[in-house]
Amino acid sequence: MVMKNYNIFLIGFMGAGKSSVSGCLSREYGMDAVEMDEVIAKREGMGIPEIFEKRGEEYFRRLETELLIEIQSRNNAVVSCGGGAAMREQNVAEMKKNGKVVLLTACPETILNRVKDSDERPLLNGHKDVKYISGLMEARRERYEAAADIVVDTEGKSVSQICGELLEKLQEMDDRKEL
Ligand code: S3P
Repeated sequence: MVMKNYNIFLIGFMGAGKSSVSGCLSREYGMDAVEMDEVIAKREGMGIPEIFEKRGEEYFRRLETELLIEIQSRNNAVVSCGGGAAMREQNVAEMKKNGKVVLLTACPETILNRVKDSDERPLLNGHKDVKYISGLMEARRERYEAAADIVVDTEGKSVSQICGELLEKLQEMDDRKEL
C-alpha cells in the first residue's frame, strides 16, 4: 500500500503505457486509478472518437481541463491523462496544484506497435505509421518534458518494473523536499 498526500499524473504520448501503469499502481499498490478518457466518455455518453467528431477537439479539451480541476480535491489517485492533456499550460498548472507529473516515454516504433490495433484514437486514425508518430511526438516533446517532475522510459521494461521505478523516483523527490 502506498499513500501519497498528492495525486500522480501520468502524461506522455498515446501508447506510452499510461493506462497500463495506472492499472498496475491501483492493483499492486492500492492507489485509486482515474482514467480521464474513460470518465469523459462515460459522462458524455459516447466514445472519444465520437466526441471529436460530433463536438470537436476544442470541446473535448475543455472537458479535460474541467476534470483536472475537479481532481484537485482528491489525494493518492493515479491519473492516466489523455496524451494531449499536458499540451496546455493551464492543464499542467492544474495538475501541479495537488500533484506530481510523471512523463512516460517510448520510441515511435514501440508506440506504433502498441496502438496499431486500436481505433479509439482519432488523432492517429489513418496515420498509423512511424513517420507520422515521430513527427507528432517531436512536436510535443518540449512541452511534455517541461511539464514533467520525473521521466520514466518504458522501453524494454515490464509494467511492474516501470511502476517500481516510478515510485522509487517519486520517493527520492519527496525525500529531497523534506530535507
Ligand atoms: C489524445 C490522446 C488520447 C485521447 C484523445 C487525444 C492526444 O488518449 O485523449 O484521443 O491528443 O494525444 P491516450 O493518450 O490515452 O491514447
